[in-house]
Amino acid sequence: MRLLALIGALGLIGAVVAAGYFFGGFYSVAGTAYEPEIVKSVLVRVRTASIARHAKDTAPANLEEPATIQAGARQFVAQGCTTCHGGPGATWAKFSEGLHPDPPDLKEVVGDRTPSELFFIIKNGINMTGMPSFALAGAKDDELWQIVAFLKRLPNVSDADFKTWTAGAAKP
Ligand code: HEC
Repeated sequence: MRLLALIGALGLIGAVVAAGYFFGGFYSVAGTAYEPEIVKSVLVRVRTASIARHAKDTAPANLEEPATIQAGARQFVAQGCTTCHGGPGATWAKFSEGLHPDPPDLKEVVGDRTPSELFFIIKNGINMTGMPSFALAGAKDDELWQIVAFLKRLPNVSDADFKTWTAGAAKP
């Protein structure tokens, strides 16, 4: 019984200390605040597991067609992805270097993501990061699947192809 009372008391003290720390303003929300490696790796694992479990939509059949891939390149520019992520021969806006976590170079990560996972990320965004939900921003599912088609091809898209495909694409 005494042991249980001790555990309860310790739990209570822990909750009061945590409340004081967070509500008392001691926790820093600054984007520049130091983040221990363990926190970073836990966040990445939580994100990866969550996306893998939630990404359920099946890709349409036309993902490998050149017309879909090229339409995806235009959508990639029109929706503003290059602003944060850059693209073949296209540099990102300087401010995106101040985002925390920073937007990855997509050609380095798309090989590790399935089309369904990419669709889920772009459609819903990643909570509490700079990655927006493009469904909330008004993009349609078929436009997002076109972007997925482009992303899967991205590591092999040359600067010249990207320039040709996106000529005249409206920027946001
Ligand atoms: C305002 C900046 C911003 C814009 C605009 C933006 N992103 Fe992101 N994106 C981010 C950030 C920041 C992350 C990293 C989130 C994280 O580390 O959890 C990210 C992550 C991603 C990821 C996940 C990468 C991975 O490691 O799995 C994909 C895919 C992605 N973005 C695609 C896109 C596409 C496609 C567009 C355009 C439709 C876009 N993003 C527009 C900021 C942005």
